[in-house]
Amino acid sequence: MASTVQTKTDLAFQRCIQPSCAATYDVGEVRTSCTACGGLLDVDYDWDAAAVPKSLASFEQKWSRRHEPLSLSGVWRFRELLPFAPADKVVTIGEGQTLLHVSDGVGRFVGLKPGGLFLQYEGLNPSGSFKDNGMTAAFTHAHTTGAKRAACASTGNTSASLALYCGVSKLMQAIIFIGSGKISYGKLSQALDYGALTIQIAGDFDDAMHRVRQVSDQQGIYLVNSVNPFRLEGQKTIMYRVLEGLRWQVPDWIVVPGGNLGNSSAFGKAFHELHELGLIDRLPRLAVINATGASTLYELFERRGLRWNAGRPDAAMVNNYYAELDDAGRRASTIASAIEINRPVNLTKCLRALEWLNGVVREVTDEQMLNAKAQIGASGLGCEPASAASVAGTKLLREEGVIAPGERVVCILTGHQLKDPTATVAYHTADQAEFNRVLGSRGVSRAAFANRAVQVENDLDAIVRAIQLNS
Ligand code: F0G
Repeated sequence: MASTVQTKTDLAFQRCIQPSCAATYDVGEVRTSCTACGGLLDVDYDWDAAAVPKSLASFEQKWSRRHEPLSLSGVWRFRELLPFAPADKVVTIGEGQTLLHVSDGVGRFVGLKPGGLFLQYEGLNPSGSFKDNGMTAAFTHAHTTGAKRAACASTGNTSASLALYCGVSKLMQAIIFIGSGKISYGKLSQALDYGALTIQIAGDFDDAMHRVRQVSDQQGIYLVNSVNPFRLEGQKTIMYRVLEGLRWQVPDWIVVPGGNLGNSSAFGKAFHELHELGLIDRLPRLAVINATGASTLYELFERRGLRWNAGRPDAAMVNNYYAELDDAGRRASTIASAIEINRPVNLTKCLRALEWLNGVVREVTDEQMLNAKAQIGASGLGCEPASAASVAGTKLLREEGVIAPGERVVCILTGHQLKDPTATVAYHTADQAEFNRVLGSRGVSRAAFANRAVQVENDLDAIVRAIQLNS
């Protein structure tokens, strides 16, 4: 697997993100950290040698070539901005056909002026979450290296995505590690149905992540978690599509839920690169939203002042915090199981993104998230609980005055509503015992926007009366 530190020779290469190290590795190497210093890696490019378009608008020419899989894909139609793989090795299943939707209903809820709130609906991806953007890229890289097995730890969406790419392409076997009882049935059912080897570990995501790294290292299995820098190259394209939806104008804010911090890291890199390449003339601000029950980034960044610090974030501060969590026996806990993570693997990369994009971090409660989710659902674009952190966080930032009423804000809806029907049904239920069991136990006291089913006798008059009473 890991080999010697090299100097770059090709258009694409891998590079340690620590500026004081900056070791480079060949694009064909399979690795998730730097041998020299243990840091995270970027995929980097010799942009002078790359065929970068002169303007973002020139990507519109791809729209007329939608019969070609690489132009249809919402990831690979931007391939000039992630030129690490030969076209004949790309594995695509039409990911990234997603929508930027202006929502005045949700805008009103968060306190923005009409036309100011946008939902980037990544639930439209083939496996129902944003993960497919990254998976097509990591899977493509895995394919170029000849991998036959690919693994991940997951709170459910990464595993569904990996299982799907393996199932469709038959190029690799998927081996997924999940915390027992920690993923929603929607996601578990996908992995099982698509035929992944599913390892349920007695533990949570943080445990599963630790183990999958050990196992894939030891067994030489290709790891597709977001420590894999190729994953994040694919996830950059979510931002390209946001810009496309805004006719290449940069919004004021990008708001995204934070779990393992892959998206936020990828978004930072996307905008930083576009700016360096002269393809945009200003940068948006970034807001990363944690759940209160899994708020490592919030705690470290906002309360303890952890910063990127030119590539030297205070490692002792991070280690002390993790030791505190262990001493207190505190595990991540939120209804938003997708982001139920206390040890985000991309922490330092995310700090860099927060630095580049003048970012902020907030935490929102499960109740705030579920109320926001109900408002998003009522707008027609249902999402899973974690996704709604972006809207709940925007509301909070508006109330604080950090976001101004007239600003243009893009919230990323990371996963589809059908991923986790249990939380949705419990929110809307008229059955108090069910509400208490699923949500009350997590500190949710009230469903402000519950849409309760009307119970009625199997009798025509009673049904008509119920409709008259409620419509
Ligand atoms: N939203 C959803 C729906 C997710 O599935 C995840 C992560 C996130 C947000 C957080 O994104 O990790 O880039 O900060 N899910 C991972 C998984 C951990 O295993 O599916 P992040």
